[in-house]
Amino acid sequence: MSGVRKITVLGAGNVGGTLAQRLAELDVADEVVLIDIVDGLPQGKALDIQESAPILGFSTRITGSTSLEAIAGSDIVVETAGLARKPGMSRSDLLTKNADILRDHALAVKAHAPEATVIVVTNPVDVMTYWFRKVSGLPAARVFGESGTLDTARFRWFVAEALHVAPRDVTGFVLGTHGDTMVPVLSHTNVSGVPLTTLLPAPQLEAIVARTRAGGAEIVNLLKMGSAFYAPSAAQAEMVAAVARNEHRVVGVTAHLAGEYGLHDVCLGVPVVLGRAGVEKVVQVTLTPSERQAFEASAAAVQADLAVLPTLAKA
Ligand code: 2OP
Repeated sequence: MSGVRKITVLGAGNVGGTLAQRLAELDVADEVVLIDIVDGLPQGKALDIQESAPILGFSTRITGSTSLEAIAGSDIVVETAGLARKPGMSRSDLLTKNADILRDHALAVKAHAPEATVIVVTNPVDVMTYWFRKVSGLPAARVFGESGTLDTARFRWFVAEALHVAPRDVTGFVLGTHGDTMVPVLSHTNVSGVPLTTLLPAPQLEAIVARTRAGGAEIVNLLKMGSAFYAPSAAQAEMVAAVARNEHRVVGVTAHLAGEYGLHDVCLGVPVVLGRAGVEKVVQVTLTPSERQAFEASAAAVQADLAVLPTLAKA
């Protein structure tokens, strides 16, 4: 096994529980700890996953706890705690409630695992990633969020479905917020090197872009009692593995920008190089004028949400 010693997953709901299972099965850590405030939930899910080890063959030790002190010594922390969307709610509606929960968690990481790399999943993820970094005081390279890995997976699947090709042969990325203004970048999407724009007509491409933007809401509306967790946890596991195994993967994450793409002090979805040090580099690509315009609109939407944070910081 190549990987790290300890990973903590905060939140043992559908996302956290499924992620813990995927991480155990990937065998990327000696130990995975699942933490939740509901007594019995993290312990029960952890034991259930652990008991699959003899069948599946993984060596990871997985435990559950209700104490934030169990974060101690983590190499990687994945923040999945918080409320999920219900039908009709936007990710921004969740902002205030989830910022309160994440404040305690960010302070716990600062106190007990200051060397950790943190992956934020809680929505609205662009704002929560910014907030977690601000409260924890960790370096920007070590606090980033899940967005592009998930949105790109949805985008790639819709393209693969339309073309009847293997999903893994479709590559591309989604920029901007993990929200209604995200920007699937058609000009850089290809199928084993063949530009997507030569393979599908414009109206079909527009429909795929629209479906990708509403990808999370489509699942919320179908489930009626929660949001997606299979594809999200797969995307998170990909990010964790990139860090734990120092893979230097080029993937989309919600990263802190300090001048890249002409933006300052905001967290947004961009392609990055991801390895043991966290975000090693933000990859800057040339966009078409309309993609650039859409990306700037996406940044403006996140900046409007960030304006709420100074109020929370004083609370
Ligand atoms: C999603 O897009 C919940 O934001 C998550 O499914």
